[in-house]
Amino acid sequence: MRGLKDKVVIVTGGGGGIGGATCRRFAEEGAKVAVFDINRAAAEATAAAIAAAAGAARAFACDITDHAGVLAAVAAAEAELGPVGVLVNNAGWDVFRLFKDSTPEEWQKLIAINLVGALNMHHAVLPGMIARKAGRIVNIASDAARVGSTGEAVYAACKAGLVGFSKTLAREHARHGITVNVVCPGPTATTLFESYKQGAGSPEKLEEAFRRAVPMGRIGTPEDLPGAILFFASDDAAYITGQVLSVSGGLTMVG
Ligand SMILES: NC(=O)c1ccc[n+]([C@@H]2O[C@H](COP(=O)([O-])OP(=O)(O)OC[C@H]3O[C@@H](n4cnc5c(N)ncnc54)[C@H](O)[C@@H]3O)[C@@H](O)[C@H]2O)c1
Repeated sequence: MRGLKDKVVIVTGGGGGIGGATCRRFAEEGAKVAVFDINRAAAEATAAAIAAAAGAARAFACDITDHAGVLAAVAAAEAELGPVGVLVNNAGWDVFRLFKDSTPEEWQKLIAINLVGALNMHHAVLPGMIARKAGRIVNIASDAARVGSTGEAVYAACKAGLVGFSKTLAREHARHGITVNVVCPGPTATTLFESYKQGAGSPEKLEEAFRRAVPMGRIGTPEDLPGAILFFASDDAAYITGQVLSVSGGLTMVG
């Protein structure tokens, strides 16, 4: 894809399933990847895999819910790799629980990771992007934001909030040469999906129900996501902002 070579890219949750696949794909395109994750070992594993394939990556331990920590981690990434050209807000967390059974403590954790974390990251990179009049931001939401999903009420609220936030920032910063777009995965085989299924009580049944609901008849893989994410980050998407794209085998079709 055009325009990604030598770009400095931050991917949050880069130690996880979708984040790891996205980091590796950016590196294949010649980008310099800052792998952000609260799990230092996972971030380092992704960076090491990229280095082993002759790519450029550095790992940064960062809890996206901590505003001061995010500012420090972004500054460290810029000092090592250069000004950030692309931000992918991918870190996320979920737990399967009917809303009536959930607790305020759980809501706080869900909101902190899935919504406030992305706000912190935007806050850290936007001043530089505005000054340089260039930037690409891709936010990873979920099909749950678009159509709802049983057992994920607060998570869906956060992800829908992220969609509204992204559209607003797309408007506020179009004149600064910054685009903000959203990718919505459907059920995708990662650690997060596995723990979500376990929380539902009968994981096999839930997975089968998802599989039946997806027109393509299969659960996604992490490698299904980077194509759409890198497209929004590339020069090929220069005239596209404020858009939401589902990557979910046809599960969600929005006109
Ligand atoms: N897997 C799915 O079925 C699915 C469906 C829809 C949306 N998503 C979204 O895709 C994104 C990636 O999820 P995944 O499925 O690859 O999950 P994953 O669990 O494999 O990866 C998530 C990563 O985020 C990191 N993380 C969690 N909290 C953090 C924090 N406070 N600060 C920094 N990093 C943190 C974790 O350590 C982990 O490495 C998430 O935003 C998720 O909500 C996933």
